[in-house]
Amino acid sequence: MTRSLPSATRLDVTGYGYQAEDFHPAGEAPRPEDDPRRWFDHPERPFELEIGSGKGTFLIQEAPHRPEHNFLGIEWMMAFWRYAADRARRRDMQNVRMLHADAVEFVRQRVTNESVHTFHLYFSDPWPKSRHHRRRVIQDATLQEFHRVIEPGGTLRIVTDHDGLWEWYEEHVARCPLFEREPYEPCVSAKRGELVGSNFERKFIPKGRHFRGMTLRRK
Ligand SMILES: C[S@@+](CC[C@H](N)C(=O)[O-])C[C@H]1O[C@@H](n2cnc3c(N)ncnc32)[C@H](O)[C@@H]1O
Repeated sequence: MTRSLPSATRLDVTGYGYQAEDFHPAGEAPRPEDDPRRWFDHPERPFELEIGSGKGTFLIQEAPHRPEHNFLGIEWMMAFWRYAADRARRRDMQNVRMLHADAVEFVRQRVTNESVHTFHLYFSDPWPKSRHHRRRVIQDATLQEFHRVIEPGGTLRIVTDHDGLWEWYEEHVARCPLFEREPYEPCVSAKRGELVGSNFERKFIPKGRHFRGMTLRRK
């Protein structure tokens, strides 16, 4: 997929792309500018985070429908992050920023209590081999972290096409008392028949892949 991306020299992330490496070292007192909400013109607006934003397609589509919310995409593959940040810059999207980081670490170290309105986790890597399951984003510990940073009544929205990962989600949610499980409603910007409208979903709809989603509301 990276081969289809423009070369890095043609992309400009100025003002839209942030990198975890730029922050104050973890463990030291965070500086105000390390608070991701301050990267937006209106930091007081509801803050939504997408984990694993890929090329940024979902955020680029969704953000214009909800200009009163701020959206941060977190992606650890440099080429995707750069491409997505450049896309947001070219469209002059004031409510979208992209961060190059490990999202789980970033949430643990940098996101303050009850500051997130919504998490989006769409088509997260399934890591199918048992010995790699610990790399999956959803773990008992990450659900606790999400609960810490989501504001009361806020949500975590999840979609996957992978049966094994879906079972993993169901098991973790069933033993987690911190969220209320609700039906998943498609994103505002999704087209007919889509749950999200991301690159991944559009690539696999024609192949007849089955997608499932859930919404977890913070108690
Ligand atoms: C299968 S792709 C889906 C991308 C996009 N959400 C979509 O639906 O088209 C999963 C993406 O999550 C990213 N990713 C996985 N774990 C991550 C993590 N812990 N932090 C940041 N990005 C992550 C991967 O690099 C990849 O781009």
